[in-house]
Amino acid sequence: MSSLPTPRTTTGHLQLTGLEKVFATKKGSFRALDRIDLDIAPGEFITLLGPSGCGKTTTLRIIAGFETPTGGDVVLDGDSIVTVTPEKRPMAMVFQSYALFPHMSVWDNVAYGLKLKKLPAADLKEQVESALTSMGLTQMKDRAPSQMSGGQQQRVALARAMVMRPKVLLFDEPLSNLDAKLRVAMRSEIRRLQKRLGITAVYVTHDQDEAMSMSDRIVVMNEGKVEQAASPAEVYRHPASVFVADFIGRANFLKVAQARPEGEGSARVAVLGAEVTTPAAPGATAGPCVLLVRPESVRLAPTDRAAIGGRVGRILSTVFFGESVEYVVESAEGNITAVEADPEVDKILEPGQMVEIGFGHERSWLLPAGGKEAYQD
Ligand SMILES: Nc1ncnc2c1ncn2[C@@H]1O[C@H](COP(=O)(O)OP(=O)(O)OP(=O)(O)O)[C@@H](O)[C@H]1O
Ligand SMILES: [Mg+2]
Repeated sequence: MSSLPTPRTTTGHLQLTGLEKVFATKKGSFRALDRIDLDIAPGEFITLLGPSGCGKTTTLRIIAGFETPTGGDVVLDGDSIVTVTPEKRPMAMVFQSYALFPHMSVWDNVAYGLKLKKLPAADLKEQVESALTSMGLTQMKDRAPSQMSGGQQQRVALARAMVMRPKVLLFDEPLSNLDAKLRVAMRSEIRRLQKRLGITAVYVTHDQDEAMSMSDRIVVMNEGKVEQAASPAEVYRHPASVFVADFIGRANFLKVAQARPEGEGSARVAVLGAEVTTPAAPGATAGPCVLLVRPESVRLAPTDRAAIGGRVGRILSTVFFGESVEYVVESAEGNITAVEADPEVDKILEPGQMVEIGFGHERSWLLPAGGKEAYQD
């Protein structure tokens, strides 16, 4: 058994308030972060997710102190730390590129930070050994990084970060260089360690599976702004915007001919030639809106009807994946994607087949239209 430090869940409260970053560029200036507000609880695992260039790394670098914000504040456990230099911040960062010292052994890589801290030799040995044990690296402690696989090197980088007992762990796409299977295994390993140690974690990725499977909360960013910060279930089921709905998971956006509020958080809408009641985002019915229907909520039933219209559509394509079958259906309201899990092979529908399109209303979600690509074709 390893002797890892006991969970520390009362420190590591990280607050970003009105964070702004404007970079000077040749053409003038570029606003990379536009008033980011985030309150991250001690021990929370938070993921910054968003398209390339949305400001994830910039946010992380400001938290770590490698970059100075042009506005706003970074507060750790009640104190502003924006003027504190990176090495004085109780944080550790794990990079995509591992960033190990190539000429040092595994042991020396992990011990490096503690040596700088001038820790007594016995304590240093104990803590390094404990970190190596917890990452399953004891057998490899004398190897050089070049003698290890990518996954093993990333374990060393993790051990090196953990051994410093930071209040906050920062990750910038740490698993992107690993193959798919290893990535999945490392996800749960990181998550398990982080929870056991009770360290606050800010994790950057543009892999939504990673974000969904690891996070207490996902922060979806777009063009330097936070679109939504909520649990994985919440961002998937109740996205705050069309952008979030489109970015997380797959989405059909059905045109809504008519919508009217029906009590709190609910609306009556006319779609696909029928009226249904659906959960609705706040303010969704105030203006133009669209209905989010996830592909796995769509149900298709063969019909004899010959013309497309209302609920009736025609299968355009069928792709069999083994564990699921995916259809694209032409409807009067654009193409609709449907996914059926665990399909019966002899009941798979062929392209050209006319179908009635249904969906689970209780799992649809009415959203204000707006943003790009509000509708499919
Ligand atoms: N030093 C800099 N000078 C000018 N612009 C910068 C600088 N650093 C970053 N940017 C710009 O700020 C924006 C945000 O960059 P950032 O690296 O935070 O994106 P990201 O979300 O991490 O993207 P990716 O997923 O590609 O890593 C980008 O448009 C980038 O070009
Ligand atoms: Mg980045």
